[in-house]
Parts: sequence; structure tokens; C-alpha cells
Amino acid sequence: MPSLFPTQPSIWRLTHILVETTKFRYLTVGGVIIGLRLASTLFEGVGFAMLLPIMEYMVAGQDLNSLQSGSEFWRRLVEMADGLGVTINLAVLLGISFVSILLRQLFQYLQTLYEIKQSRELDRRVQVAGFSEALATRLGYLDNLRSGDFVNDIVHEAGTANATIFLIFTSIGVLLQLVMYVGIVVAISLPLTLLLLFVAGLQTVLLRGLMSRSRRVSEEITRSNQNLASFLIERIRSVRLVRLSGTEAEEVANMDAKVRDLNEGIINVQMIRARIPVIVEPLGVLSMFTLMVVGSDVLGVRIEPLLMFAAATLRSLPLMQQLMTNYQGLLSITGSIKATVKRMHALAEEKEPLGGIREFTSIKNAINFENVSFDYGAGASLPALDGVTLKIPAGYITALVGPSGSGKSTLIDLLPWLREPNVGRITFDGICSTEFSLKSLRSKIAFVPQSPQVFNESAAQHIRYGNAFATEEDIREAASLASAADFIDELPDGYDTLLGEDGVRLSGGQRQRLDLARALARKGDILILDEPASGLDADAEEKFRAALMRIRQETGMTVILIAHGFSTV
Ligand SMILES: Nc1ncnc2c1ncn2[C@@H]1O[C@H](COP(=O)(O)OP(=O)(O)O)[C@@H](O)[C@H]1O
Ligand SMILES: [Mg+2]
Repeated sequence: MPSLFPTQPSIWRLTHILVETTKFRYLTVGGVIIGLRLASTLFEGVGFAMLLPIMEYMVAGQDLNSLQSGSEFWRRLVEMADGLGVTINLAVLLGISFVSILLRQLFQYLQTLYEIKQSRELDRRVQVAGFSEALATRLGYLDNLRSGDFVNDIVHEAGTANATIFLIFTSIGVLLQLVMYVGIVVAISLPLTLLLLFVAGLQTVLLRGLMSRSRRVSEEITRSNQNLASFLIERIRSVRLVRLSGTEAEEVANMDAKVRDLNEGIINVQMIRARIPVIVEPLGVLSMFTLMVVGSDVLGVRIEPLLMFAAATLRSLPLMQQLMTNYQGLLSITGSIKATVKRMHALAEEKEPLGGIREFTSIKNAINFENVSFDYGAGASLPALDGVTLKIPAGYITALVGPSGSGKSTLIDLLPWLREPNVGRITFDGICSTEFSLKSLRSKIAFVPQSPQVFNESAAQHIRYGNAFATEEDIREAASLASAADFIDELPDGYDTLLGEDGVRLSGGQRQRLDLARALARKGDILILDEPASGLDADAEEKFRAALMRIRQETGMTVILIAHGFSTV
């Protein structure tokens, strides 16, 4: 399928796609965040701007009359205070400033709280959507997927990527704050402000090289993270192979190399971040001193406004710094956004079909494969199935026998549409399988794969898996029919015994019979058994054969049995 994914997407385009796929109400959320920020900025501004009248009031020896005669501002202030029935004194002036700063902190607190909640909400959406999409993705895509890459993208990269949206909102807020200070500075002296803006522009240019490096390193970090997760999952799952091959030391060295790789990237990005204040801060202070000298000696600005100018510049410096750090942060998670967006995009594109609208109930006559071919595609030299035509009669046990690699497992994967044929079709009582809804078809097919997959749950939970309504009695009946009842009874906690990841606490044969019990509890119409006897010894095989005979007699299911030799048959 052609991918519409852009090859060199910008950070803005990626963020846009991310937001679109999550259907996150980012406009509302952004509005609230920026609104709260605006409120705190406003109060900060009032609290800060009050410093000038306070200074003037103190310098004028607390004489309101002289202040009013000299300035429009003071006349207005006294008028307003009179209207409210308040007389202005130092305590009132300080009080206004103090309350403003208090309110500013309150709004900032609310903003932080809201941001944390919304950011978790966005993470939840992306992660749940990723998992749900993966469950609906074609097997062909999942076959070629390293589980570590997937886990890393959904758990780690997605969380990091989501932070971009909030970084953008926060940056808009910081920008507002900066604009406010610039406003204050403009009110003091326009020429000084222009000079200040020129210095700020100079800083941005100085930081540009560092910024583009952040973006590059970020993609390396994402790759290292994926590598590390995949490596860990694969090695821990195959710890037997490692131990029996005596490759522990090599694997530890491999792990070490992978973590070093990751560290290099992370340290790089952090170093870039650490350099930002080193450039912004001294340059800012230096220019402030210069501007103060220029302000007083050349422009003749009075001392109080000049002090205000210095204070405003000092307050703006951390904001400048934060803005730069945010931008660098944004660039340094490019890799994460790209990985997340790419993953969501691929999952959406590789969706499994839903099938037709017809309800599948049972088969009375036969299943027919008509000239069916299947090709695994990329890398496979020969098709796994080439023009297969065969008939599976209803109500019988049909055995498919062939050497390993001959395509038996592939063939039966086509029945419940785990894979789709490239050519030909499969019919149930003459009706093409694509006409049935995928859900109804699968609900009637009980499938025991070649290597049964067992979660770390109890024996009873496994038998009930996919069949939530099975009663205690159904479970015991299915276990008995699958010749699994005896060994389950002997487990330490019987049916409540936890089976361990991948059912490690069971032998191969036991796992197969337990899984057969699960398949039987579904009470389907068609039972597929993929090499059920392959891992069994003579005794277990005998038990399995007896179970099969009973199943045939008691259930009347259509059974398809795969074997690589004739002994089971
Ligand atoms: N997921 C896969 N991706 C690519 N090729 C596969 C995959 N699974 C099986 N094959 C190939 O398809 C052929 C048939 O495999 P399979 O149906 O498992 O055979 P059998 O079950 O008869 O042993 C083999 O050549 C195998 O290498
Ligand atoms: Mg097979």
C-alpha cells in the first residue's frame, strides 16, 4: 500500500498530524492554558508595574500632593482610590502589589494542574488508540514488527511526542509574558527597547546552530530507545538460548553498547540545553548594563524608570531562556513525534478488513479452497501456497499432512482470515468467506495453534479466554474433553493456578491440551488443530488421540488436523 507519509516532515507538520489522529480538543485545551497564563501574566504585570509608583511615593517623601501636581498617572490613581473610599498610603500600594503577585501564583498553579491532567489525557488517548489499532492490524505487518520497537513507540515515544503540544502552549504563554515586559520597557523608553530587541535577535542567531543539532540527535535517541527495548524483550524471552549457548558475556556487552549509544544522544541533547543559559544570561546582563549607561548618559532617562527598565530586563531574561529551551526541547523530541506519528499512520493503513455483512452460523456441507495462492511478499522467493484446491467435508476429521515448511500453517491461517489469499477464494457451503463478517466467522472457529499462547493467568482464566460466559461447569467439561482435567487437578491451586508468562509452568503437551480445552469451551463449529502431537511423547499422544475421538463423537465439530507425519492420523 502506498504510504502518504511525508519523507522530511517539519516539526509543525508532525504535530499537526499527531493532533489530528488523536482527535484531542487541542483548541479548547490550548485556549484554557493560554487564558490562565494570560491571567497570571496580567497580575504579574500589575504587581511589577506597581513598583514604580511605590518607588516614586517613597522618593517624594510620601507627599501625595506634590506627586499629583507632577503627573497625570498619580491624579488618576488618587481619583480612583477616592471613588473606592480608600486613601492612598504606602501600605495600600504595597498591598496591591502583594495581592497581585499572590493572584499571579494562584493562576499559575491552576495552569500547572490543568496541564498535567490534560497531558495525561492525551497520553491515554494515544496509547489506547495505538494498542487498539495494533489489535486490528494485518498479521503481515505485525510479523515484521519488533515488539520492542512497538512497545517503545507506544509507551515511551508517544508520551514524549505528546509533550510537544504542551510545550507549544507554554511557549505561547511565555511569549505573552515577554510581550508584557516589552510593553513596560516601551513605556519607559522606546530607543532602549529597540536596542534590547536587537540584542535578543542576536542571541537567537547565535543559538541557531545548536538548535538544528538538537533535531538530528533526537532521531538518534529514538532509534537507540527502540533498539534497546527490542533487544531486551528478545533476549529475556530467549534466555534459554543465551544460557545454553554460553553467550552471556557477549549479550551483556551488547546491552552495554546499546545503553552507551543511548546515553551519548541524551547527554548531547542535555548539553545543548545547558548551553542555552550560558549564552542568554551573560549576554543579557551585559547588554542591560550597557543600555543603562546609554539610557542615563545619552538619553537622559531618570533613575526610577531606569531601575524599572533594569528590573524588567532581568525578569525577561529567564523568559527568553525558557522560550529558547522550549524551542530546543521541541526540536529534541522530533524523533519521538516522528516515530509516534509514523507508527499510528502505519497501523491505520494496515488495517485488517472487517469482512462482509453475512452472519456465519455453521457449515453443513463443506469448506472449499478454490485455486488459492498466498505469498508472504517481501523476501519470499516462492509463494507459500500456489493454486491450492481442496475440499474439507463438514462433520469429519480431515488431516492435512506434509513436510515442515510446506505451507500447512499458512493454509489454515486463511480460514479465519488471519491472512488473505492473493489469488483464489475459500467458500463455506458455497458462500465466499469474504461475505461473512469477520467477527461471526471467527466466533465459530476454534483454533489451537502450533505453539499455543498462554498469558500469565490461571488455568480457568485461560480456558475462559474469549468466552466470558463459560460457567464453571463448561470449563470442567471442556478440560475433561481435552484430556486436560487430570493434570489441572494436580496443579498446586487446581484451576486457579497461575501459569506463568507463556505458560512456562506447563509442559508442551499440557499447554496444548489446556489450549484445546479453551478452543472447545468456545463451542465453535470448526476446530483447527495445528500439529497438536508435535511436542508430545507416545503416552501424551495416545491421550490426545483419545480426546480427539471423544470430541468427534460428542460434539460433531468439523475438525481440521495438521500433522507433519502420519502417526497422529
Ligand atoms: N510470517 C512469515 N513471513 C514470511 N514467510 C513465512 C512466514 N511464515 C511462514 N513463512 C514461509 O512460508 C512457508 C510455509 O510456512 P508454514 O505455512 O509455516 O509451513 P508448515 O506449517 O507447513 O511448516 C515457509 O517457507 C516459511 O518460510
Ligand atoms: Mg506449521
